[in-house]
Amino acid sequence: MTLGDALARATARLAEAGVDSARLEAELLLAKACDDCARALLYAELDRELNDEQTAAFDANVSRREQREPLAYILGEWGFRRLTLKTDSRALIPRPETEIVVERALDHIRDVEEPSVLDVGTGTGAIALAIADESPAARVTAVDVSPDALALARENLELTGVNGRVRLVEHDLTSGLGDGNFDLVVSNPPYVEPEELLTLQPEVRDWEPHVALVASGATEAVARAATQALRPGGWLVLETAACSGERVRSLLDELGYDHVTITPDLAGRDRVVEGKWRDGRL
Ligand SMILES: C[S@@+](CC[C@H](N)C(=O)[O-])C[C@H]1O[C@@H](n2cnc3c(N)ncnc32)[C@H](O)[C@@H]1O
Repeated sequence: MTLGDALARATARLAEAGVDSARLEAELLLAKACDDCARALLYAELDRELNDEQTAAFDANVSRREQREPLAYILGEWGFRRLTLKTDSRALIPRPETEIVVERALDHIRDVEEPSVLDVGTGTGAIALAIADESPAARVTAVDVSPDALALARENLELTGVNGRVRLVEHDLTSGLGDGNFDLVVSNPPYVEPEELLTLQPEVRDWEPHVALVASGATEAVARAATQALRPGGWLVLETAACSGERVRSLLDELGYDHVTITPDLAGRDRVVEGKWRDGRL
């Protein structure tokens, strides 16, 4: 089979399975099957024959995608800010909106000499590793309740070369975050309401870990616990559901945070809520 035929057939199969960007995803899967050649180069070689091994690998991956397994799990890696992170079903796929969370977080530690940062619910390690990567003096503690997610974050830590400045800890945030002196607490907590789960795309609903998705009071728990974990004047930066910006703003106001603001994502939806811890202790 030629690359051109493979591409046409896979595009038709993925479109039939309900995949939105069928052509683009077929190209990415084909580029992976052709020993990770660049997607742009495929078009120069549409008449080239795939060998048997490449055909089998491509077909297997198209079948996985037909089952609506996320592209990032099949490719095994995904870009997040300056990093390429390993991605698989052990943790949530890092989202573009979370890059804005990192942007806001970095803004608050830019002038701190050796900022100490706590990332709550680290998943792949995306936020923690991006902060360590872009803020070379930062010391980051990253916690998660999921041993699977932490194992993946550990593999990413090895890959990203910020070893020594990021500490991964298995911890359940519902038991608090301890007394600390952090300059920044940052979190993308689970925030999908249980009744919303069935309305999500199959890629999310059927494949990503539910512990990473379903809200169980995590936002409130992090905001409350951060009042103990932050130093006076330290910042809390939280990702929120688009519909929850005002509710989380009120929560932070009630808990005693100052300068509470909401930052929208690129689609203009409420996405990040942040506040400065006022007195240090409630
Ligand atoms: C929405 S995901 C965010 C993952 C990653 N920070 C990101 O932005 O891509 C939420 C993470 O919180 C973790 N989590 C859920 N409940 C938790 C709890 N009670 N204590 C600590 N971590 C928790 C999940 O395992 C998951 O990795």
